[in-house]
Amino acid sequence: MDSLDAFARAKLAALDRSNLRRSLVETARLDGPWVQRDGRRMLSFCCNDYLNLSIHPSVVAAALEATRQYGVGAGGSRLVTGNHPLYAALEQRLARLKGTDDACVFGSGYLANAGIIPSLAGKGDLLLLDELAHACIWTGSHLTGGTVLSFRHNDVAHAERLLAGARAGHRHAMILTDSVFSMDGDLAPLHELAALAERHDAWLMTDDAHGIGVLGDGRGAVHAGDRPARVPLQMGTLSKAIGGYGGYLCASRPVIDLIRTRARTFIYATGLPPGTVAAAIAALDLIAAQPAYAALPVRKARLFTTLVGLPEAASPIVPLILGEAPTALAASRLLAEAGFLVSAIRPPTVPAGTARLRFTFTARHTDEAITRLAELVRDRIMGRSARRVHQ
Ligand SMILES: Cc1ncc(COP(=O)(O)O)c(C=O)c1O
Repeated sequence: MDSLDAFARAKLAALDRSNLRRSLVETARLDGPWVQRDGRRMLSFCCNDYLNLSIHPSVVAAALEATRQYGVGAGGSRLVTGNHPLYAALEQRLARLKGTDDACVFGSGYLANAGIIPSLAGKGDLLLLDELAHACIWTGSHLTGGTVLSFRHNDVAHAERLLAGARAGHRHAMILTDSVFSMDGDLAPLHELAALAERHDAWLMTDDAHGIGVLGDGRGAVHAGDRPARVPLQMGTLSKAIGGYGGYLCASRPVIDLIRTRARTFIYATGLPPGTVAAAIAALDLIAAQPAYAALPVRKARLFTTLVGLPEAASPIVPLILGEAPTALAASRLLAEAGFLVSAIRPPTVPAGTARLRFTFTARHTDEAITRLAELVRDRIMGRSARRVHQ
């Protein structure tokens, strides 16, 4: 055991030296975007609960009622005994929202990608990923045993060159991308990627973790433009704007039937708790009934980008790239002193040299609070050299 602990200590020491060690800080969520940390009440700008639905009275009531009726756990894999009656309602709502035949819900977004991708691709297949695709898309792709290539971020011409060069040597090909990039907030060029996929008989899969609920009247990034993009595999999570937990795939009936019988993270994992499923149903009903509310997080993000002079936000996520990890940590501390919680995002979550503050905006952030935050960011962070922020 000595060698094991010595290994862990050496790894941790190396991470400490490069300011890349992560630690958990107890943070209690209070009302809406407010949190309690280190005994202080702080306004969080780093939470993905974009519509604040995790605390919405009807979402909470739905979770409590389902828990009372069916218990706190699913009790087994959905294929064994865990397929409680609420699942069908949730999957129907998701399919309707996304305009597909059917949907399949997973335990989380990470589990969804780790299960879906290896069910559809294997050895001899080609997986073409945006270089900034989320970690779980990479995980799922590597699990296939196929050829994994990455194209430069949002560079469809580069993707086309890679595909043209490699497609003939592979049986099937998939193109995989976030539809809203989780650390950058920008959108993938879905129409162009869909056309590229069709030209090369490749299957396009999008991860709409940060699009559902907040773009396209709540229907997500595929529905954000004047016409829906042709995306046969629409994956996403219930853990951000939907306010709870869980992942999903919306697709055609044969694809969903195949996933339900092949995806290992679906077959060999316990179903979501009934309360979580009921909460997601209630959240989706609220979003469908109130598209104007769904538009608020992007409007709030745009207020911030206008005030600080950054490019207009395309989603509720706004990055401020500061360079090295110590600079981002110092900027985060500076905002914390003023009562704003904005985490520093460091490699390997983002590429080396692009450590950043990642601001996220929710429906219940007031314009007044955003204005105060923007003034501080503009005057104390953007107005200074990285070196002075670090001091
Ligand atoms: C783009 C993207 N995909 C997938 C996930 C994983 O989803 P989950 O938290 O539901 O596992 C996340 C976030 O955590 C994400 O940002």
